Amino acid sequence: MGLLHLILLSTFLSASMTSESFHAMEDEALVVKCPQDCQNRTVRWYHTQSNQLIPAEEGGRIHSSGRFLWFLPTSKEDSGNYTCVTCYYNYKKQYTVSVMVYPHKQGICFPSQIRYPNDTGTLTSGRIVCPTIDNYENATIVKWYKDCKALQGPREKYLMGEKYLFIKHPQKTDEGYYTCHFTYTHNANVYNVSATRPFIIKVCPSPIPPRIQYPTDNAVIKVECGSPVDISCRALLGIGKQNIAVVTWEVNEIKAEDLDTSRFREDRQFFMGRDWEYYGESILNIEEVKEEDFLSNFTCVALNEIEHVKLTVTLQLKVPCKGDNHSTYTTIGILVLLVIIALLLILYQFFQTDIVLLCRGIFKPYKTQDDGKIYDAYVIYPKNRTNEANFVEYFVHQILPDVLENKHGYKLCIFGRDMLPGEDEANAFEMRIQKSRRLIIILTPQLIQYEEFGCEHQIALYSALIQNNIKVILLEMETIGNYEGLQESLRHIIKQQGTIKWKEKHQECSHASNSKFWKLVRYHMPLRHKPSQLNHAV
Ligand SMILES: *[C@@H]1O[C@H](CO)[C@@H](O)[C@H](O)[C@H]1NC(C)=O
Ligand SMILES: *[C@@H]1O[C@H](CO)[C@@H](O)[C@H](O)[C@H]1NC(C)=O
Ligand SMILES: *[C@@H]1O[C@H](CO)[C@@H](O)[C@H](O)[C@H]1NC(C)=O
Ligand SMILES: *[C@@H]1O[C@H](CO)[C@@H](O)[C@H](O)[C@H]1NC(C)=O
Ligand SMILES: *[C@@H]1O[C@H](CO)[C@@H](O)[C@H](O)[C@H]1NC(C)=O
Ligand SMILES: *[C@@H]1O[C@H](CO)[C@@H](O)[C@H](O)[C@H]1NC(C)=O
Repeated sequence: MGLLHLILLSTFLSASMTSESFHAMEDEALVVKCPQDCQNRTVRWYHTQSNQLIPAEEGGRIHSSGRFLWFLPTSKEDSGNYTCVTCYYNYKKQYTVSVMVYPHKQGICFPSQIRYPNDTGTLTSGRIVCPTIDNYENATIVKWYKDCKALQGPREKYLMGEKYLFIKHPQKTDEGYYTCHFTYTHNANVYNVSATRPFIIKVCPSPIPPRIQYPTDNAVIKVECGSPVDISCRALLGIGKQNIAVVTWEVNEIKAEDLDTSRFREDRQFFMGRDWEYYGESILNIEEVKEEDFLSNFTCVALNEIEHVKLTVTLQLKVPCKGDNHSTYTTIGILVLLVIIALLLILYQFFQTDIVLLCRGIFKPYKTQDDGKIYDAYVIYPKNRTNEANFVEYFVHQILPDVLENKHGYKLCIFGRDMLPGEDEANAFEMRIQKSRRLIIILTPQLIQYEEFGCEHQIALYSALIQNNIKVILLEMETIGNYEGLQESLRHIIKQQGTIKWKEKHQECSHASNSKFWKLVRYHMPLRHKPSQLNHAV
């Protein structure tokens, strides 16, 4: 029995446990309490590392007094472990207590670890007890701090008691770390002490009829086709955490969890607002918006133990769907292109003459190949028998050579002007036509009764036109009517290419080579041949 006692005793002697840790600020008074008292015997304190006994008599900065270990005041080097030796019934027992001393820094007024439990308040009132103040005899509270800042707010909100701080109608913003500063006088020395504890508010949950904050009922949400969309619904469900609380989406009255998961996903969350307003939020994510979604009703349902409310929104297209988009633009593009081409064709039709002449003017193209011809054009016209002054004669002998030969460098052979004496007319006619690149025929009513335009001429003309394929330019000097009296080959040509009509108004500026008439004539004339070759040929 005695042996067992001895074993137990030695076991208890060696038993040492770190039970508590104390966190304190530098240069303040600190009281550390041994977890267990020993009736009738004094508790002894040791420095754990050095095993040095801490004196029990007053006067030392660190001293013990009964169950308590005093730091008057604390210093940084006091951080460490302390052992108190006490008793458990008849056995010795020791505890190790850890002490941490923090230096004061800007904005830091309490240790990072708080060993004092939370105080709690309700929505009507809160009471914060200044921790440890009972350990200090006759201590007086100097000031309260919240989160290291002197208390702010209306005077009537706070009431300072001997050991307490009362808060009237606390709000969410009143939660935080409260520090009480008090002074303690020991042997005429005044020490500062601070102690901090958290204050939180416990709210009795009270539901209110759910209020959906967004979206608004019957809202139309603009979306882009084929793109993902999030539609959110947030509802206020009560004050404080609610036991029954749901915010969810339904699509055409199908619950979100029953929807096609490859396209729809619902995320729900609950959170507390500024003053314990309890919100639920549901975000419906549509992976890829489809046509059918624009016909669907999206209903947000919010419910708590009081009732349920719902509202419906629909989706609308912001811009046409991508596929349509593409084809529409393509169609428009093709249409625009067609219109441009049509306009260009019309423009070319209108200004063909001008364009060709302009190009000839700019690039001055010359035919260099010798085609065996001498004249650019052979001119035939009905000869006036009466010898009277006649505009056609004037035109053929004055205006025509002036414009085409003098101004534009063509070489003409004019029937009558360029005949050599004694030449056989019909022969010469055929030969000259063959040596010409164009045949200019002056059309007047007289041509119909033109005697000299006899049989041989007709044959020569016919062969020139059909066999030699000479291009003909018909200048209609006077209106002829239906051309019925004209010979067959001429009628054929008129039918094919029409005539260039001389207008009365041309008479005033008959030499103006940029008039419509002369432009057409020049347009039908061949490219000019190099003058040197021309000379050579002549
Ligand atoms: C403590 O001492 C008192 C007398 O001083 C005594 O009556 C009491 O029994 C003692 N208690 C213990 C637990 O030894
Ligand atoms: C105090 O004790 C604990 C646990 O026994 C140990 O981890 C810590 O290092 C000690 N502190 C010092 C300053 O020795
Ligand atoms: C004390 O309050 C804090 C918030 O300040 C909280 O995280 C902690 O859980 C509370 N502790 C207890 C025991 O209620
Ligand atoms: C505390 O105050 C009381 C009454 O004012 C006084 O009798 C007592 O001596 C004081 N104690 C200390 C330690 O100052
Ligand atoms: C106690 O705190 C006050 C203000 O907080 C300061 O003025 C004073 O010097 C401090 N006293 C000691 C002994 O540290
Ligand atoms: C959407 O709601 C309207 C109005 O309540 C209803 O007329 C319509 O049929 C609903 N559409 C679908 C697809 O359920």
